[in-house]
Amino acid sequence: MDFEIREMTMDDYDEAAALWQATDGVWFDEDDEPEKLCAYLRRNPGLSYVACSGGKLVGTVLCGHEARRGYLHHLAVLPESRRKGLGSSLVDHCLRKLADIGIPQCNIYVLGDNEQGRRFWAATGWEKATTGRTRLWSCVPPSRSQHSAAIPRSGL
Ligand SMILES: CC(C)(COP(=O)(O)OP(=O)(O)OC[C@H]1O[C@@H](n2cnc3c(N)ncnc32)[C@H](O)[C@@H]1OP(=O)(O)O)[C@@H](O)C(=O)NCCC(=O)NCCS
Repeated sequence: MDFEIREMTMDDYDEAAALWQATDGVWFDEDDEPEKLCAYLRRNPGLSYVACSGGKLVGTVLCGHEARRGYLHHLAVLPESRRKGLGSSLVDHCLRKLADIGIPQCNIYVLGDNEQGRRFWAATGWEKATTGRTRLWSCVPPSRSQHSAAIPRSGL
């Protein structure tokens, strides 16, 4: 499968929002309205990516940070484009970009009933961190988990 991964811009909004709304495991709400996404991309320049194939958006990931650790959201790949390496490539792009700006740690949150998401993160080397809550999971990549401060201690 030929695909391109590039930085997300607001021009991708309509296709991305349609993908998020159609994807189990992605929480789509008022935080995903265009003005808020625009503010998010402006605050975290160059960190969020889309995957495209044949001119069509087939995958997304949002990435932000708070100077000490990154956070990934809205990782989604169209069902017909899954199991071709797109999800892991999107994540790798974010982790590399975070490392480039001096942030080697990253957390992700997985909805408690998202078995598919859990299997993906486990298969790609991420570990569940204990947060004291059950609805969301926080994970850190094992290569970065030597810094235990990357794991929230007081819940999410
Ligand atoms: C999770 C998701 C993004 C993975 O995308 P993808 O492009 O299929 O991922 P990859 O092809 O890079 O998969 C890498 C590895 O993860 C594992 N994996 C991925 N999906 C899996 C699944 N459904 N079940 C078991 N293992 C899975 C496999 O080991 C896979 O390698 P393999 O295909 O060589 O066996 C995609 O399934 C998706 O959009 N799911 C719905 C949204 C979601 O749950 N997002 C995560 C929110 S936290």
